[in-house]
Parts: sequence; C-alpha cells; structure tokens
Amino acid sequence: MPPVTNLETHSHDVVVIGAGGAGLRAAIEAKAAGLSVGLVCKSLLGKAHTVMAEGGVAAALGNVADADSWQVHFRDTMAGGKYLNNARMAQLHAMEAPARVNELERWGAVFDRTPDGRILQRPFGGHSHARLAHVGDRTGLEMIRTLQDRAVAAGIDVYMEATITRLITGRAGATAAFGYWRATGSPILFRAKAIVLATGGIGKAYEVTSNSWEYSGDGHALAYEAGAELIDMEFVQFHPTGMVWPPGVRGLLVTEAVRGEGGILRNKDGERFMWKYLPDERRGEYAATDEEATRWVTALSEGRRTDARRPPELSTRDNVARAIYTEVKEGRGTPHGGVYLDISYLPPEHVRRKLPSMYEQFKELADVDITKGPMEVGPTTHYVMGGIRVEPDSGATTVPGLFAAGECAGGMHGANRLGGNSLSDLLVFGARAGAGATSHAINQPSGEAGFPHVDPVNVREATRELAAPLERVSGDDPYAIQRDLQATMQSLVGIFRVQADLDEALTQLAALRERGQRVQVAGGRSFNPGWDLAFELRNLITVSEAIARSARQRTESRGAHSRLDHPETDDARWGGLNSVVARAEDGTMAVSTSSLPTVPDELRALLGTAH
Ligand code: FUM
Repeated sequence: MPPVTNLETHSHDVVVIGAGGAGLRAAIEAKAAGLSVGLVCKSLLGKAHTVMAEGGVAAALGNVADADSWQVHFRDTMAGGKYLNNARMAQLHAMEAPARVNELERWGAVFDRTPDGRILQRPFGGHSHARLAHVGDRTGLEMIRTLQDRAVAAGIDVYMEATITRLITGRAGATAAFGYWRATGSPILFRAKAIVLATGGIGKAYEVTSNSWEYSGDGHALAYEAGAELIDMEFVQFHPTGMVWPPGVRGLLVTEAVRGEGGILRNKDGERFMWKYLPDERRGEYAATDEEATRWVTALSEGRRTDARRPPELSTRDNVARAIYTEVKEGRGTPHGGVYLDISYLPPEHVRRKLPSMYEQFKELADVDITKGPMEVGPTTHYVMGGIRVEPDSGATTVPGLFAAGECAGGMHGANRLGGNSLSDLLVFGARAGAGATSHAINQPSGEAGFPHVDPVNVREATRELAAPLERVSGDDPYAIQRDLQATMQSLVGIFRVQADLDEALTQLAALRERGQRVQVAGGRSFNPGWDLAFELRNLITVSEAIARSARQRTESRGAHSRLDHPETDDARWGGLNSVVARAEDGTMAVSTSSLPTVPDELRALLGTAH
C-alpha cells in the first residue's frame, strides 16, 4: 500500500534514476528480462551529458589496428588510471566493450566506416592503438539516440522532468525514491524492488565545466545519504580542451578528437609545448620530432599504416591539462587565457568531415573558422573518476537493493580516465547494473509482497524537506550559494592542490552547508529553478566536501590529483593499493583509506613488470 495517502506513487520492479547512456542501458537490460521498469530523469529524455563524449567509444575491435586486444585495452586503462583502478572492473570493461559496441550497431547506431565497411576507429590520448569507434564528433549523441529508441520501443515507463530528492531506506535497504515533478512541484514516490542510480557527474560544483546543469552530483549524494560509500572522489578530470572565449561558452567541450586527428597545441610564442611535459617513462611512446608527428598525422588522414609514433598532444588528459594550465600560469597563454589548438594545416574538407560539430561550434559561437586558424582552449571540469563504491560484476552498492552505473559509480577509471572509456563504461556497466538489479528484484517474492516496506515517517520527512525552502520567510539565496561554492571549488580544489587551500575549502564548505540549510526560495512550485537549485545545492555541497576531504587525505600526486606539497607519486605509502573512502558517520563525513582488491596473477602479468 502507498505509505502516505494522496501521494502519487508508482511501483516498478526496477526503477532507474538518470536517463543518460548508463541509465538507458540498465533499463533496457531489466526490461529485456521481462520486468516492469521505470526510468526517471530530471530533464527531457535524450538530454544527457553522454552527448558530451563526442570523439568516440573505446573498444578493442581491432578494425584499424590488428594488434589491438582486450588485454592491451586493459593495460592502457590501468596505466592511464595510475593502477588505482579496480582491476576487475577494468578487465570486464575491456573484455565486454566490443560486444556492447557491436550490439549498439545492431540496434541502429550508424558509425563511421573503414573502406572495407567495418566500424572506423580513431586514436585518443593514452590508447596504444586507434580504438575509438566514432560518428564524426557526435558519438555520444548517436549512442543516446540509439539507446533511447530501443528503450522506448521496449515499453519502458519514462518519467521526465522528475527530480529525486531522497532515497527512502529501511531494514531491507533501498525501498523507494522520493521526489517531485518539476512542472507542478507535486511530490511523487517510486517504490521499487531494486533501484539503479545512473545520474552522471558533478561538474556543476566548478565554475568552468563542460557539464550541463543536470550534473549536480545527485546520485553520489543520494547514495551517500542512504549509507553507501564514495571512493576516489579526489580524482576530478579536467579535460584539457574547453572553449575559453567568448565568456558565455567558457568550458564548453572541444573534443579530444581534434588532437586525435592531429591537432597541435601551441603557446602564444608558437612553441609546441607538449614535448616538455611528457613523463620520462612514457616519452618513448611519442614522436620525437615535428617531422615524425607529421608523418603519423599524414598516414592517419590517408588511412595508411605507419611506424611513426603518435604526437605528444596524445598524452593522457591529466598530463595535457596540467601542461596547458602551467603554460597559461607562467605567462605563455593566449589573450583569453588559453593556448592554441590548431588543425587548420590539414585540408579543409577533411577537417569538416572529421570534426563537423567543432567546425560549427567555433564558427557559430566564436566566429573562428577552424579550417583557417587555431582555436583557443583551456582546461574544463569534465568528469569525476570517483563515485559510489560498487561490486564490479553487478553494480551493487553496499546498500541492499541499490545499484549504480556510469559516471556516478567509482572504481573503473582509477586516478585518471582515458578518453572514450566513459562511453564504453556506461554500456558495459549499465548493462551489468541492469542485470544486477534484475536478479535482486526477481529474488524478491512476486507481486506486491515483493516490494519492501516504505516507512511513512521517512516519506513525511522528505515531504517536509521538499516544502521547506518555499515556506521560509527569510534565508539565503540559492544562486548566491552556488556562485560561492563554484568559486571555492575552482580556486581551492582545482588542478593543483595544497593542504592550506584544502583546509580553507573545507572551512568555506562548512559555512556553505549551513547557508544551504537556510535556503529560501521565492515563488511557487511550478517550474521554479531556484527551488530546483535548492536540492541540487545540497548534493553539490556533499560531493564538494567529499572531493576536498579525499584530496586532503591523499598526500601524494597521482593521475588527476596533483598536490604541489606532495608532488611525488608515493608508491611506498600508497602503493596504488588504497582508495580514499568517504561515508556518513553520525551526521558528519568520515574519510579513511581502504585497500584495493588484490589483482589476480593473470591480470598482473598483463601489466608488465611495474605492477
Ligand atoms: O573529448 C571528448 O570527445 C570526450 C570524450 C570523453 O570524455 O570520453
């Protein structure tokens, strides 16, 4: 029975929260098992950040490079993640990505083609081979289109413009999700035998981000409040190339495919600076001269093989972002505070064919023709490697009945994600979390008896919480709190960190949390963005605290986490073996370290001698 009379309630075997690639894929999996599935998203179906992974989906199909295999993909992913990845997740991901991409093609995705009709693959940073299956520079969009068609055709019940504000838990674990319709403000309850969180990332905690407004750490915070653990939250990915000009589009993604197709980074003095920043131990993988890099690009654009090594711009994202930041900081940046990214030396029709969206984006938004001159770019907050701790095979969190997949889940990418691994991650682990939720749901008694008891006290509390910002007669403005939060995270918990800044950030976050608890919103319940923000703010403050606390705890530099006061990767202390874990304890956030699972010998052998 519904726990509170007059409350709109929907019951499904599986409820998926978030309708990006991971959520859609999870929902499709559960529906294919014959279950009743509800898919809840806070914006319109199809409006997902998945579209912001533009350059391709990483899968060792071996269509362009015969030498590619899941084993090499696994090794690249672990090396890119500085060995902090959950090895089982990296293994499943590398092994299953090709099947998931081929499945997507069977479902109607139209990938670019090799001359002999196979899915075309392009190079990306940190991948040893041309591995990214792509659709020009609109890969995420094509994936969402395909998954959305499939989900709708399968008869999944979609609840659009519904925001979840609380997970209701009880003795059985997660029992329901409580929220409201954005259009009317009316409360709504989703009862479920299993819940999958697939809400994406946290980019809106920062001022400069490629993420859209939806990315407010909702799943991370909902899970944390429900008792789940967050791991590796210190690892925030700053994508090296976002737009820096004009101000209204600062942070908008400039796909890594530009560099994958041969884009060259230069500072204001015309210096091709990436040579300086290649880590010594990896230098041998990259072209040693301009001439060798040009041979590589020419061969790529003509579809020929070459023994030339890839250009230095295809170093991993953590490294390229630090390099650009340093060039700008040391006074060698462009007038708008970025560096130049140039692909205009290639034939114009080739650039337009390979990078149609980038061509349009720069022409429309910055009045720059990228076939004639360089773009100005700089780092932008793009992705969080950290997330909800999950069991690798099933996506189960530590809360019974609660599953997570995609960007809101942690473990897969370690300290730094390779480009293109997000799209394959969401396909592989979306399907797995959907299967995990399915088996949890079918293990419950059938019919009504299988739904866990939803505690009406918790529902009433969530209902009160929902109304509070509108009922206060005075209080803090949510927009002002958000501006201050973003300024704190951008300036104190950015690409380079030091303890004093992190301490200051934690002080400021505590004050912001207090202000957040007194937030007051004018107007009514219908399409009220200030009211929406009041709940997103609470989530953003929670994930920001997890990022700052975890970053303070990790007294070394590794991958995307760079401590100026601890510049070395401290293998002796950290050994690549420990994650930082954040969990709620007596109303405060506690952080501790936790050993990574032992890597089995057969996987360790794939990593070479270093690990
Ligand atoms: O640069 C890009 O196209 C982004 C890809 C990704 O984040 O995986």
